[in-house]
Amino acid sequence: MTDTPLPDGIQLTPFDPAFREDPYPILHDLRRRAPVHRDEPLKRWIVTRHDDVEHVLRNKAFFVDPSKARPDAFHRLFENTETGGEQSILFLDDPQHRRLRGLVNRTFRPRAIDRMRPEIRKLARDLVAQIETPEFDVVEALANPLPALAIAVVLGVDGGDQEQFKRWSEASTAAFFNPFASEEERAPGVAASQALREFFLREVDQRRREPSEDLIGRMCAVEDERGDRMTDAEINTMCNLLLIAGNVTTTDLIGNGTRALMDHPEQAQTLRAAPELMPHAVEEMLRYDAPVMNSARITHDEVEIGGVAIGKGESVMTVLGAANRDPDIYPEPDRLDFDREDVHHQSFGGGQHLCLGSHLARLEAQEGFAALLERFPKLGPSSRPHEYRQVPSFRGLKHYWLQGSE
Ligand code: HEM
Repeated sequence: MTDTPLPDGIQLTPFDPAFREDPYPILHDLRRRAPVHRDEPLKRWIVTRHDDVEHVLRNKAFFVDPSKARPDAFHRLFENTETGGEQSILFLDDPQHRRLRGLVNRTFRPRAIDRMRPEIRKLARDLVAQIETPEFDVVEALANPLPALAIAVVLGVDGGDQEQFKRWSEASTAAFFNPFASEEERAPGVAASQALREFFLREVDQRRREPSEDLIGRMCAVEDERGDRMTDAEINTMCNLLLIAGNVTTTDLIGNGTRALMDHPEQAQTLRAAPELMPHAVEEMLRYDAPVMNSARITHDEVEIGGVAIGKGESVMTVLGAANRDPDIYPEPDRLDFDREDVHHQSFGGGQHLCLGSHLARLEAQEGFAALLERFPKLGPSSRPHEYRQVPSFRGLKHYWLQGSE
């Protein structure tokens, strides 16, 4: 690949068929030849080395608020993708980010999520029990519904609304994360987001009158040492973000992880023989095929990244999927290997914006894979073709067909 021009623009997004099918050879080439690469068509810098990605994500001086980017920078495209309401924490800088994240952290503690494991296990087992054999689409049967059902349990919303919930969150995610969408393409997302806002308004109102122990109830009740609390509008925006950030990503972890297991049958066998490896196996799946390909920051000043000078207000895309396969950090990075000892992947981002829902996502994936392997002692890919979705910065399967037998 050394003589070919460096990829840029759409070639580095899932709109390009080669990148969509397998971005890793392209990212390896880029990391080797231009680890800090200027993507001129999209006005952004692409960072692919593990250590550079980690450095950028953890550096508190970088911004995320798109309005702080240069007028022509990639981030500016995201100024219009918010679908109403307050700015979400994903695009907030300090001190606003520190304040809101501090409050919501108190309500979203790993221990509270752990208590939901039996309920999420039951959801996963019930979904897997309903699968009709021999041939099924694992995305439709498990990867799609499980995160929507789980987040509904965590938030404390009615089980009967879950189908609607998933549709709304898919539509608003597609609008929120796709800066290339036309007004027309964004319309269903804006409508879905509005419907979600009205829905959450009623839920918050109810919790204000009747306190509850679910996540919405905890957000209504939370108060810090200085007596600061979340407003109704902030809770509403946070609930919207939890759906947007938590649904499709976890669907993609389950889809990509299943494909990784099918492509490495010996690793699937290892996991079947030692189910206690599951938490570690999910970490390796997150490293091997990251559901969120890019996170991003804005330079606060003139900076140097990996020896390259970058101006103020520039968009810097940290390619999490490339960092996770950096051969300087991970020997044989393209191999799924549950014996790999050090798997400190970047798939949940890092620093102040480190994924709030990582604990929940891990739990759902662990229970989903366990249920699948338990029901089907024999599981293999079907001959029907798979298909990837086309949402920029995400990597996930739309359909993945399997053959299973008991
Ligand atoms: C496998 C599934 C998931 C992946 C791969 C993932 C990945 C990410 C990434 C890469 C970020 C940005 C971090 C950064 O820029 O440094 C993020 C932020 C976030 N995620 Fe996740 N996520 C997942 C699941 C979830 C779930 C289940 C929830 C909640 C229910 C969630 C809620 C959030 C929130 C609220 C943020 C914004 C945090 C902030 O800006 O302070 N995510 N996630």
